[in-house]
Amino acid sequence: MGYDVHAVRARFPALAAGFAHFDGPGGSQVPDSVAAAVAATMTSPLANRGSVTAAERGSDAIVLAARSAVADLLGADPRGVVFGRSMTALTFDLARTLAATWSPGDEVIVTRLDHDANIRPWCYAAQEAGATVRWAGFDPRTAELTVADVARELSSRTRVVAVTGASNLLGTRPPVPLIAAAAHERGALVVVDGVHLTAHAPVDVATLGADVYACSPYKFLGPHCGVLAAAPDLLESLEPAKLVPSPDTVPERFELGTLPYELLAGTTAAVDFLAALDPDASGTRRERLTASMATVERYEDGLRRRIEEGLARLNEKGLNKRGLPGVTVHSRAASRTPTLLLSFPGRDPQDAYRFLAERGVNAPAGTFYALEASRRLGFGDRGALRVGLAPYVDDGDVDRLLAGLGEFLSEP
Ligand SMILES: Cc1ncc(COP(=O)(O)O)c(C=O)c1O
Repeated sequence: MGYDVHAVRARFPALAAGFAHFDGPGGSQVPDSVAAAVAATMTSPLANRGSVTAAERGSDAIVLAARSAVADLLGADPRGVVFGRSMTALTFDLARTLAATWSPGDEVIVTRLDHDANIRPWCYAAQEAGATVRWAGFDPRTAELTVADVARELSSRTRVVAVTGASNLLGTRPPVPLIAAAAHERGALVVVDGVHLTAHAPVDVATLGADVYACSPYKFLGPHCGVLAAAPDLLESLEPAKLVPSPDTVPERFELGTLPYELLAGTTAAVDFLAALDPDASGTRRERLTASMATVERYEDGLRRRIEEGLARLNEKGLNKRGLPGVTVHSRAASRTPTLLLSFPGRDPQDAYRFLAERGVNAPAGTFYALEASRRLGFGDRGALRVGLAPYVDDGDVDRLLAGLGEFLSEP
């Protein structure tokens, strides 16, 4: 049967508005089943988790189901799945908690490829603990972050290596398993930002070597919340600041306040939706997820190649007034998600963003909070135009994008 993008699109009510969505890396559109799960939870008897009333048991079941869904998605242990408001909030909390175990002179490694959410929390935490932040750079010409870039910053004092699974700006997928192996040799923990990666490829936290893996359901067709997966033993060894009467069990002691049960139900629905994207996939939900995400990866890669070929054709048509190609693609890493960062020599990417938006094509320009990466690429704090793919993007959308960019480039 194979991947059926028409059937997939029919499940996304928002697409009826008629926009071509290349803004998925900022937050994806949501299928009907996710919205229905959120609504069904909010119109069912609700109470805090417990075992006495049916409403309490309902909330408890929602939390356990969401942990199990995320565990299947990531190849993680459901007992180590922590929910929170956002990946950013979870990372700030984790960094503070880990920093309480650091001493002056300890070191933390962050990378310039990362989203600020996997940089700044570590900088603040290091400052509080008297630890040193060491920066791993990346090559702006190749968009690659290599194992050597990180390994040269490692020392016996390294406590944490914070690295992205995939750059939300460039799509680059660094060699996380090799980076993790080098970090583990020095006894450091590896914290992987999986927000961008999870939407585009099968994920297995053990293969990655991630001690902690954080992601955000709203990037993979789910609702707005964050989730972090770690080995239960690691969480058991940590003591986050918490309210005295709240549970001291793991993972609950990391979940501050009452969980958004409706969003957790939506997260489970999103994972189930992903698992069914490949109609030929069979077996356990984990197996169907792995097969479906591999299918999504192939499908999105095909669209990405079409866009790249279309952009190359636009450049063949002529050079701009400065004698340069009209569009430059900065996403060049050998291994990457289907995420293209574009600039237009002599033109403001914000103008391209607005020009496309007026034609119903949503492809924003900015740094997307990957501020260090944008600066390293020479785009400063303004960034460039990002074209992101999602399972519901089709050839018609790509045609509209290329036509819009062609028009923009042929403007005087
Ligand atoms: C790679 C990456 N990391 C982290 C984040 C932050 O996620 P959240 O909004 O859940 O805090 C984002 C959001 O754009 C992202 O793309």
